[in-house]
Amino acid sequence: MSQAPDQKAMEFVGKVIGDATGMMTIRLCAIGDRLGIFKDLAENGPATSQGLADRTGLNERYLREWIYGISLAGYLSFDKHTREVSMPEAHIPALVEVGGPLFQGGLFKMFTGLLQPYEELLDAFRNGGGIDYATYPADFWNGLEHNSCVRYKNLLVSQWLPEMPDVQAKLENGGTFADFGCGAGRSSIELAKAFPNASFHGFDLWPENIEKARKTAEEEGVSDRVQFEVHDISKGVPGKFDVVATFDLIHDMADPKGGLKALRQACKDDGIYVLMDVDCTDDPADNEGPLAVFKLGASLHFCMTSSLGQGGMGLGTVGLPESKVKEFSTEAGFSSVRRLPIEHPLNALYEIRP
Ligand SMILES: C[S@@+](CC[C@H](N)C(=O)[O-])C[C@H]1O[C@@H](n2cnc3c(N)ncnc32)[C@H](O)[C@@H]1O
Repeated sequence: MSQAPDQKAMEFVGKVIGDATGMMTIRLCAIGDRLGIFKDLAENGPATSQGLADRTGLNERYLREWIYGISLAGYLSFDKHTREVSMPEAHIPALVEVGGPLFQGGLFKMFTGLLQPYEELLDAFRNGGGIDYATYPADFWNGLEHNSCVRYKNLLVSQWLPEMPDVQAKLENGGTFADFGCGAGRSSIELAKAFPNASFHGFDLWPENIEKARKTAEEEGVSDRVQFEVHDISKGVPGKFDVVATFDLIHDMADPKGGLKALRQACKDDGIYVLMDVDCTDDPADNEGPLAVFKLGASLHFCMTSSLGQGGMGLGTVGLPESKVKEFSTEAGFSSVRRLPIEHPLNALYEIRP
């Protein structure tokens, strides 16, 4: 006679199934985001699968299957009588409003892109090494940009800068600002919109990011005061600036200590270095909260792995806690590090002085 399954084992299976459902739901969201289905439903209202196919030009059979799945996941509402799917008003900020404070579309894209180089990741587990930037698809970079956009549009100027009055004063008085590892440039662009007298420079080693940043600067009407250039900070500094900044760069770098030394060179003696990086604990095992697994997963799938791919240190997403920021900054020749009192689920912000 077979024994009844252990209660704890059953509960664990329940957790696994819940997690698998979550993963599949995010994939369904990525489809809705990328193909504009969420946007269509928010703009044009409820529709049957055929109505949605007519409106979007997508295949009805695929839409029908997607509608059942995403509605059962609780993201859209499905009316069994009219067979229409609709978007609840309260879901629009998370699913549709690009750049809004609650938008999650960046996450959907990032997940899809991050998980793509799977064989390469398994290979790195077996043989060491890592994955190079070119292996990641456009979805990953676009997702990163959409996530960043939410942060810089809604927090950087209105909530974070007031914590740094000296930085604010330098920008108001026409200072120079350099954003290293600027990605698609959103941080510099948002600052340029707020400080018309200052001049902004964004540098990134990945040419596609710089192309995107230049295009966004044009679209946002600030290309007269923001310049973007391809530059690898580990190859030296392109000048001296009143304010230097890195947003989510240092933990990704092949040589974070060398990077900080270069940043010290790029910062005028009376300048200020603004460092934003991932908030994490000294012992990686102590990270907790809803984003802890996300941070470690992102580390394995990109941050640690792309650094190791360049023969680098591979700090990883949770590799730069406050204690290391202080240690590395001091080693690089900075004299003071002040952690700013901001509340953010993912990031910590520091004001560092030569
Ligand atoms: C996680 S992304 C952050 C991008 C952007 N700052 C943001 O907050 O959205 C890290 C960026 O640093 C760039 N990067 C990495 N190492 C670099 C280096 N040595 N010099 C310049 N950029 C670098 C990458 O190309 C990538 O765009």
